[in-house]
Amino acid sequence: MNVLGIESSCDETSVAIISDGKLTANLISSQDFHSKYGGVVPELSSRAHLQIIIPLLKDALEKSKLNLSDIDLVCSTAGPGLIGALLVGLTFAKGLAYSLQKPFVAVNHIEGHIFSGFLMEEQPEFPYLALVVSGGHTLLLIVESDTKIRKLGTTVDDAAGEAFDKVAKILGLGYPGGPKIQKAASAGNGDKIIFPVAELKDPYNFSFSGLKTAVLRYVQKNYPDGINIPENELNDIAASFQVAVVKALSRNLKKALKNFQVNSISVAGGVAANKALREAAIAIAGKYNKKIVIPRMEFCGDNAAMIAYRGLKLFEEGYQSELTYSPFPGLTKAHFAG
Ligand code: KG4
Ligand code: ZN
Repeated sequence: MNVLGIESSCDETSVAIISDGKLTANLISSQDFHSKYGGVVPELSSRAHLQIIIPLLKDALEKSKLNLSDIDLVCSTAGPGLIGALLVGLTFAKGLAYSLQKPFVAVNHIEGHIFSGFLMEEQPEFPYLALVVSGGHTLLLIVESDTKIRKLGTTVDDAAGEAFDKVAKILGLGYPGGPKIQKAASAGNGDKIIFPVAELKDPYNFSFSGLKTAVLRYVQKNYPDGINIPENELNDIAASFQVAVVKALSRNLKKALKNFQVNSISVAGGVAANKALREAAIAIAGKYNKKIVIPRMEFCGDNAAMIAYRGLKLFEEGYQSELTYSPFPGLTKAHFAG
């Protein structure tokens, strides 16, 4: 069984192939040119997806030693994401499925991240606690099975990755903010400034907007022109901000581990690439004696391997999508139980 996965929800075009259960290609083309605009420009993103998607497919087939006619199942991200960007991958995938007369599965991008731990050799064990931290979402979930996901909490304002991106902008570090903050933080002192960690009524929810504003106020107060921040101070601000984000995420993870019986933990999404978060999550898993699976870097950010994997699982569960399927902006088609 040869499964093709396509991802184009934001600024990464990705094509992956899973052949007889083995990942044989996971090609990712990142649109680095957005950095000069300080964030993703949706229309430019759609155009770049269009230009690269066919060469990527050719390379993925070549790498997997397959012909297009060998593909048995086509899967594509269908949302959430940028509508124009989603349309490129989804329409391309539907066209391929039609021309090959092969089944098609539309995949929810967040579900791709939620199950991305299964791309690793050591896999999560159901039920597992999943922390999904990306540029658009922050979710704490209990994944009971391949089709049963229980939502414990989410962010009430900014996503964790969005907070990294916004704070990087405040500090003049550029886009994408996560890796830039991490780099600055590695040279800074995270105990230097105590930034607030929001306490919310709902124990499993998150809030990062106050933290971002606290960083902005700190910078405005101490560096009114906003540009002449000495490097060591900038590193300390980045490190202190990162400490606050990791604290907020760790706190809810610990609360959930105290109150729910799970077999393992998985941290996924772009922010799961963060070294400090990975170390904190591993330490928590050790303390609670739980198995932990954090995808390796290529499976943290947006990638088509997770889409092929998820699409295949859904297909095995009896799901198939119509070729009239339209992109969806929210989590409407996810398998959330509540
Ligand atoms: O999952 P992803 O690639 O795309 C979405 O689905 O949103 O996540 C992208 C987010 C961006 O906000 C980026 O700044 C963040 O992940 N990110 C990181 C790191 N690498 C990427 N955040 C913190 N530390 C990192 N090393
Ligand atoms: Zn993503």
